[in-house]
Amino acid sequence: MGKDVIIALDFKSGEEALSFLDQFKEKKPYVKVGMELYYAEGPSIIREIKKRGHKLFLDLKLHDIPNTVEKAMAVLSRMDVDMVNLHAAGTIEMMKAALKGLTREDGTRPLLIAVTQLTSTSQERMTEELLIEEDIAKVVIKYAENADVAGLDGVVCSPLEAGKIHDVCGRDFLTVTPGVRFDDASRGDQVRVTTPAKAKEIGSDYIVVGRPITQADDPVAAYERCVREFVEE
Ligand code: C5P
Repeated sequence: MGKDVIIALDFKSGEEALSFLDQFKEKKPYVKVGMELYYAEGPSIIREIKKRGHKLFLDLKLHDIPNTVEKAMAVLSRMDVDMVNLHAAGTIEMMKAALKGLTREDGTRPLLIAVTQLTSTSQERMTEELLIEEDIAKVVIKYAENADVAGLDGVVCSPLEAGKIHDVCGRDFLTVTPGVRFDDASRGDQVRVTTPAKAKEIGSDYIVVGRPITQADDPVAAYERCVREFVEE
């Protein structure tokens, strides 16, 4: 399975995102477009980024009734994105419907990965507000297993969970992991972080890196450092 570095394009406008991408003259990085940029610009920003030769993970985290998710996924699939996601909390039935909607007439489809429990959800809130009494680590594994049963390609998770998820769901089940920082840098608001090299060691398949690249003095050099540490070394 090819490992790759995905840059989180957390910009508020298409103009900012595209001028950021203009700096990458040679290798066109895999990028992630999230809700902020997508809701600001709509499908046109996706078409423009794809036209420039980037692979694209559209991070919209769908969660609705199976029929609605199936139809929405069919629309995303026609936009020629390479990876999309949803909330595993929508149930196995919803995840299966999503896969069905994503699959094009020729049998091809973007990769589909699940969010298990958001990393912003604490054990305490999950127990008190969502009335889920299990240990959060166990819930994350169970949701990953559900995604695997539904036929999804993998999950978004902390790099620190990637090893365990591979143990349970198999080596081919993808782990896409944010929360990556260089050894010598600030963590921002991320609490549990790992370096690109450590994420590789634990077995992440894709790392999602935002501010360590987008806010760097030299974003291209920061991206290349990630690729060197995560993919090449
Ligand atoms: O700037 P930074 O490297 O922290 O960006 C990480 C990206 O990954 C952001 O787009 C963030 O929304 C996303 N993400 C995350 N933690 C999760 C899921 C997604 O940081 N659990």
